[in-house]
Amino acid sequence: MTIFTPRVFSGMQPTGNLHLGNYLGAMLNWVKMQETNDCIYCVVDMHAITMWQEPKALRQATRDVTAAYIACGLDPKRSIIFNQSQVQEHAELAWIFNCVARLGWLNRMTQFKDKAGKDKEQASVGLYAYPNLMAADILAYKATHVPVGEDQKQHLELARDIAQKFNIDFAESIADNGFGDAFFPLTEPMITGTATRVMSLRDGTKKMSKSDPSDLSRINLMDSADDIAKKIRKAKTDMDALPSEVAGLKGRPEADNLVNIFAALNGETKEQVLAQFGGGQFSGLKNALADLAVAKLSPIVGEITRLQGDSSHVDAILADGSNRARAIAAPILRDVRKIVGFIGS
Ligand code: TRP
Repeated sequence: MTIFTPRVFSGMQPTGNLHLGNYLGAMLNWVKMQETNDCIYCVVDMHAITMWQEPKALRQATRDVTAAYIACGLDPKRSIIFNQSQVQEHAELAWIFNCVARLGWLNRMTQFKDKAGKDKEQASVGLYAYPNLMAADILAYKATHVPVGEDQKQHLELARDIAQKFNIDFAESIADNGFGDAFFPLTEPMITGTATRVMSLRDGTKKMSKSDPSDLSRINLMDSADDIAKKIRKAKTDMDALPSEVAGLKGRPEADNLVNIFAALNGETKEQVLAQFGGGQFSGLKNALADLAVAKLSPIVGEITRLQGDSSHVDAILADGSNRARAIAAPILRDVRKIVGFIGS
């Protein structure tokens, strides 16, 4: 059996502002993974244009997300940080995967149904084929592990299906060209647990999201200290006091969310948070949470602001990351072309 070198790949779209959910749910985990793995972190600008983006805003958002990656602790020396469109291998492999994936598979993707809404005829073809590009992102590097949120699990499964079908459809050619019995790995999703799932401040049953029309529902990384305090103060709660035990949070999604956010920001368990705030009113927890969030986010905001003032530095990081990414993807695509039967060197 072919053994694949462990490699982590993940990505985020440069649309809208990053928020506390991205930070606690994804970034902190990505930062930790750098210590023990070879990691590639991508700003997926090609995914962003599956819905029309104003070009200037796209450029700005790409730089902003890159700045946020770095400000949150991703290290551009240790990991590869780049934007997708600078490495053409993604687009090329996506085309080949368009020819491997089946319509029936894509028709099952719930995210397309959600994003396309009622008028599917008006959705871009790119939005429909989005998961094939995502599979190409991952497999252009033969990545073995992909940290993602629960909402991306179905896309990851599709990437595995594509890898498996490619390995089977081209089995003979893969063997003939000396690549053993499997060319692509079946990538493992690393689903971020509910412990780091941050919910909307207005509705504890919905994920905190950049597309929620109410800005009060989320804490953006770039929010001022006043805004953070205001949003937490206004966060929806219920009428009861806080419970002293975690079991008491059951059926109280808003209370659970605030306790969870406090715990995640402070590196504690929910038990520890409730040991301190259980039995008290929400106002006590909210005041402490506002102070904590401001304290944790202000150095990040400072660093993002600094990087926003130095776009040539950010662009240089993306250029360097793209070169290093291409050095991995180019030979893999050369092999893919050979396996598929394309002539060329
Ligand atoms: N679809 C992912 C999201 O919206 C972003 C993404 C694109 C991604 N390509 C990826 C995530 C590859 C992990 C691996 O969150």
